[in-house]
Amino acid sequence: MDDSYVFRFMREEDIDEVLEVEHASFTLPWSREAFYNELHNNHFAVYIVLEHNHRVIGYCGTWIVIDESHVTNVAILPEYRGKKLGDAMMRQLMALARERGAKTMTLEVRVTNHIAQSLYRKMGFQNGGIRKGYYSDNQEDALVMWVNL
Ligand SMILES: CC(C)(COP(=O)(O)OP(=O)(O)OC[C@H]1O[C@@H](n2cnc3c(N)ncnc32)[C@H](O)[C@@H]1OP(=O)(O)O)[C@@H](O)C(=O)NCCC(=O)NCCS
Repeated sequence: MDDSYVFRFMREEDIDEVLEVEHASFTLPWSREAFYNELHNNHFAVYIVLEHNHRVIGYCGTWIVIDESHVTNVAILPEYRGKKLGDAMMRQLMALARERGAKTMTLEVRVTNHIAQSLYRKMGFQNGGIRKGYYSDNQEDALVMWVNL
């Protein structure tokens, strides 16, 4: 990753570009209001973006509650995938959560999303339980994964 790539905290002005990443990545994309609320009204939330030449090409976020970090979303723009950027972004998020006092990190991932599961496994995440019918678009189950930080 050369220095045309920059990680920084998400700001309100990023929401348009974050929504592009969001819509290109998820079948149940979050709305503008959801991101606005995360940035302004949720004191547990921490969001980072990955910029390439000043364009947001990825983002991720977590809620840190006492010593547990719960990942909300992780996404890279499709044309930037497969370049180890998701890997670098997860490492940033894990380091940040650790700095803020989190001892464990958890997340939900679609049972069919083998790419994301493989990324998380590479980061040391283990399988937890299954949340039945967690995703409202197709009632798909979520696999819970967790890691000690
Ligand atoms: C999941 C996602 C963030 C990965 O980002 P990425 O930048 O493409 O991933 P990387 O290039 O850093 O790859 C990291 C690891 O992910 C896995 N991975 C990435 N692309 C893969 C592919 N096409 N097939 C299988 N595994 C893959 C591998 O474990 C890879 O490690 P490796 O290269 O050492 O084998 C990206 O695919 C994405 O945005 N997907 C859509 C949104 C999503 O599903 N988010 C997760 C929701 S829980």
